Amino acid sequence: MTPTTLTITRPDDWHLHLRDGELMAHVLPHTARCFGRAVVMPNLKPPVTTAAAARAYYDRILDALHPDLDFTPLMTLYLTDATTPAEIERARADGVVVAAKLYPAGATTNSDEGLTDLVRARPVFAALAACGLPLLVHGEVTDPEVDVFDREAVFLERHLRPLLDAVPGLKVVLEHVTTKQGVDFVLQGPPTLAATITAHHLLYNRGAMFRGGLNPHYYCLPVLKREEHRLALVEAATSGSPRFFLGTDSAPHVRGAKECGCGCAGIFSAPVAIEMYATAFEQAGALDRLEGFASRHGAAFYGLPPNRDTVTLSRRERSVPAAIAAGPAGDLVPPGAGATLGWELDTPAIGGLPGGVVAPREKREEPRRRMPLDRSEFPL
Ligand code: NCD
Ligand code: ZN
Repeated sequence: MTPTTLTITRPDDWHLHLRDGELMAHVLPHTARCFGRAVVMPNLKPPVTTAAAARAYYDRILDALHPDLDFTPLMTLYLTDATTPAEIERARADGVVVAAKLYPAGATTNSDEGLTDLVRARPVFAALAACGLPLLVHGEVTDPEVDVFDREAVFLERHLRPLLDAVPGLKVVLEHVTTKQGVDFVLQGPPTLAATITAHHLLYNRGAMFRGGLNPHYYCLPVLKREEHRLALVEAATSGSPRFFLGTDSAPHVRGAKECGCGCAGIFSAPVAIEMYATAFEQAGALDRLEGFASRHGAAFYGLPPNRDTVTLSRRERSVPAAIAAGPAGDLVPPGAGATLGWELDTPAIGGLPGGVVAPREKREEPRRRMPLDRSEFPL
């Protein structure tokens, strides 16, 4: 008998784009309805490059959070060629930053100010290792000679292996791993190396971008790959290995920025993310492994305790909205728009809207202040 409900420790999202301002106010409830914490990517315009900017962004997120939702943003620093070891130490001391993000310059959305030379940045990587902060890696080369489908595999040997060798002890997350080569690289690497896996890379292969025409809402970076790679990701995610954990890479761009002559990379999966993961795990006959992947492995890697409460998913048809309002700039189209999913997260009605949908916060008198992050309880 297949179960009709699934209750797991509240999950966390270890890779998320929340954006800023009005767009953030609209997308934040879709994550906070489900996830207790999320690692918030720093690729704003301008990027979040200092401890002070990360603290200010953290405050803006909590100010935008609906008062009935309990959610802690885990902040990241965007590494540029100008980042200093002292800035890493300041960020660590401030307490809201949990990691630094390595974007190879030009690899993806808002990465132009990213690193141009990973050898020159080694003192910064060493400072991260000394503070125990993980380095989160967008693992794709930017070399235009390299085919876009091969950019992750080439990055592993050309850049990631030398980096790991040069800074032993540095915790590294290969973000949104998309290839069999990436999975094998993580499994063969030191225990300080892990990877996040998105829901869309578990459910879709590159055919999704071309089914019946060009589908821009399935375009992200790293781009969806062939079926053999999807199967390797499913195997890794459902294997029970603590080296793989949930990171949605939910990356909202309004419809006009996706459906145009040169559409932005990014898939807005937050409204359906946990349901997509449950579907992928069920298809693999591994629903019993979802909790480890979604709620335990990531926290353990970051040296944080798991969340104390639970969420319940129920087996019932959930139709994916065709679009989600996001203010005057336009609406957002989630993956699978208009189709149905076999699982739905049980959420209380919040903000006067039906369960599963929460309104952006109206106005809060007192901005919420979360507890400082205490890593001492769970050292790696
Ligand atoms: C992300 C974005 O839009 O910020 N896009 C994406 O396709 N994943 C950037 C990123 O994580 O690469
Ligand atoms: Zn991302």
